[in-house]
Amino acid sequence: MRDFALEAYFSQWEFTAKHHMTASDAQSMSIQELLNLAGEGAQEELEQCWLGYTPTWGDEELRDLIAQNYERIQSSQVLCFAGAEEGLYVAMRTLLQPGDHMVVFTPNYQAAESVPEDIGVTITGVDLRPENDWCPQPQELKAAITANTRLVSVNFPNNPTGSIPSQELWMDIIEICRHHNLYLFSDEVYRGLELHPHHRLPQATDVYEKALSLNVLSKSYGFPGLRLGWIACQEAKLLGEMERYKHYLSICNPSPTETLGKMVLRHGSKIWEKNRQLIASNLDILDDFFAHYPHLFEWKRPQGGCVAFPRYLGAEGAQTFCQKLVQEQGVLLLPPSVYDTSYGPSHPQHFRIGFGRKNIQEGLEAMKGGLSV
Ligand SMILES: Cc1ncc(COP(=O)(O)O)c(C=O)c1O
Repeated sequence: MRDFALEAYFSQWEFTAKHHMTASDAQSMSIQELLNLAGEGAQEELEQCWLGYTPTWGDEELRDLIAQNYERIQSSQVLCFAGAEEGLYVAMRTLLQPGDHMVVFTPNYQAAESVPEDIGVTITGVDLRPENDWCPQPQELKAAITANTRLVSVNFPNNPTGSIPSQELWMDIIEICRHHNLYLFSDEVYRGLELHPHHRLPQATDVYEKALSLNVLSKSYGFPGLRLGWIACQEAKLLGEMERYKHYLSICNPSPTETLGKMVLRHGSKIWEKNRQLIASNLDILDDFFAHYPHLFEWKRPQGGCVAFPRYLGAEGAQTFCQKLVQEQGVLLLPPSVYDTSYGPSHPQHFRIGFGRKNIQEGLEAMKGGLSV
């Protein structure tokens, strides 16, 4: 498979750059902080956690807690995975055969296209463009569908742009899939981090019988170290096939992950609220920062998630800007090459910045040193 450009860049810089200013997860916490939040009995629950194998589908109470976040999903319609990435991989391997066709929106989280590409699938991209607030045009989705299209793959709130379609547009996308009898793979890992509650979309699996809703504790909850993701889906047969595939990968989730994951989900709304508050204050800081450099940045708040894809206007271009910034100031942003795709235009003037974590002020101070004023 071709290199996962984002992960390859992170391999070099994620833990060596002084200021990680492009994280895609909300602020995490220690086990101790989580136990304090979880309250009475939590410490004992962790100590009693049995370190044996766990069910491939995921712990029963865990799946029940996950299912409670959906309108139409029972615990039996949830399959757990090692992070969202394993879920995405297994879904693509299960749904797609060589020669199938699929549609993916660009720019995107690269695995959404690299995994199907490796299977031998033909892919058509539908561009998300800044002039449309990075939202898709339904007529372009319709035009991309062919006789052998099997799947449409989407991700909202979007990585890297933070875009969210309106409810009407979202239902249009679903109706197009329904009309053509297509699977809809909906990566919803940033759900919960909308700037305004009315931006929150119904989860695909709640409104479409052929949708797979991917989610995880990594992003909006802020616990990527737990590696706990899931797919919720109404089709029992497909879930069963994916479970068979998981037997060849992680087999089951680590039991401490399940124990701690249950604590996260029991307090999920409190954790989301805390993360949304941090994001709101970080966005105020970013508004203020970018307002000082109108000749260098075109900045517009995204609608959700904790990453954005602003435009860099400096003469050297966003690629050189990001590379110099990390090498000289220790500030890590994601350069545009990371989002190059074979299925849509590249965006050489854009870079990814994150705002889900604490202390972004320090990173912005360091960034100032690398700006041509
Ligand atoms: C849109 C999207 N989907 C999936 C993932 C994978 O998440 P995880 O780390 O939980 O496997 C990421 C991680 O950045 C992502 O941004």
